Amino acid sequence: MGDFDADWLRLRAPADSRARAADLPVLLRPHLPKSQMLRVLDLGCGTGSNLRTLAPILGGPQAWLCLDADDDLLARVTDETRAWAQASGLDWDATDQRVTRAEPHLRCSIATRRFDLVRDLSALPLEGIGLVTASALLDLVSETWLAGLVSRCAKVRVPILMALTYDGRVAFEPALSLDREVIEAVNRHQGRDKGFGPALGPGANARLAILAAAEGYWVEVRRSDWRIRRSERELQTALIRGWSRAAREESPASDAAGIAHWETVRLAAVERGCSRINVGHRDLLAIPPRT
Ligand SMILES: C[S@@+](CC[C@H](N)C(=O)[O-])C[C@H]1O[C@@H](n2cnc3c(N)ncnc32)[C@H](O)[C@@H]1O
Repeated sequence: MGDFDADWLRLRAPADSRARAADLPVLLRPHLPKSQMLRVLDLGCGTGSNLRTLAPILGGPQAWLCLDADDDLLARVTDETRAWAQASGLDWDATDQRVTRAEPHLRCSIATRRFDLVRDLSALPLEGIGLVTASALLDLVSETWLAGLVSRCAKVRVPILMALTYDGRVAFEPALSLDREVIEAVNRHQGRDKGFGPALGPGANARLAILAAAEGYWVEVRRSDWRIRRSERELQTALIRGWSRAAREESPASDAAGIAHWETVRLAAVERGCSRINVGHRDLLAIPPRT
């Protein structure tokens, strides 16, 4: 089991799906292969939520290869996608691991592969791929890794769609005087190595925009902020606890009591149903130059 368990991915999925920039897949569509199978590579796929969001919007014949280093998460892609298809009125073909819809046409087959993006970046199976995508991955990666990914994508002129990259902005309601200090500490913590080298954290999306533009890509960026509702108590609680822990790890011991108090007051507001949190994210679409 890695750092991202399936319960956490399930908890965040509704906020993710409300937040994503709806127009970027629409802008992407004309740049995808026409009337052929669209082959999609999903990096750090988790349990497959990026696939479930994007595939129905893109439509037509698609073949997704979902890559992750975590076997437990990969093992859930099929079951979660089948449950989602059934709940959404789509057909699920268990033999071919395929989601279909008659109108508008969708025929999407799904394969998963255990793949370590750090160790095996140079072996990324980009041959014949029409879209490289990821969600909630980029803030984990390093400058070196990201530059390597962009240069590989540029060589084969493949479009890139990266969703839900944390950008460092967090706003609480009601506000507390310690909010800013805690989030600044959290953002420093985001720069710790998550397996890819020193993480870009909140700066990842801006770096991707620069690296892709330098390769001649046309880049579009949108805000895709989580707007977490008062009723989403479990998600708020998990975030506040995680932020409090990260802030204490980044701060002098003398700040620990203050941060613990911040956590207690925040959790009490969640419990009373009067807490709302906005968490800044960005979605980025990069379209390669024409040949
Ligand atoms: C925040 S989760 C996002 C999962 C999914 N894309 C989503 O939006 O729900 C980050 C994912 O990156 C994967 N990951 C982290 N390091 C990885 C690596 N070195 N190689 C492959 N996957 C990795 C984790 O296992 C996890 O599934």
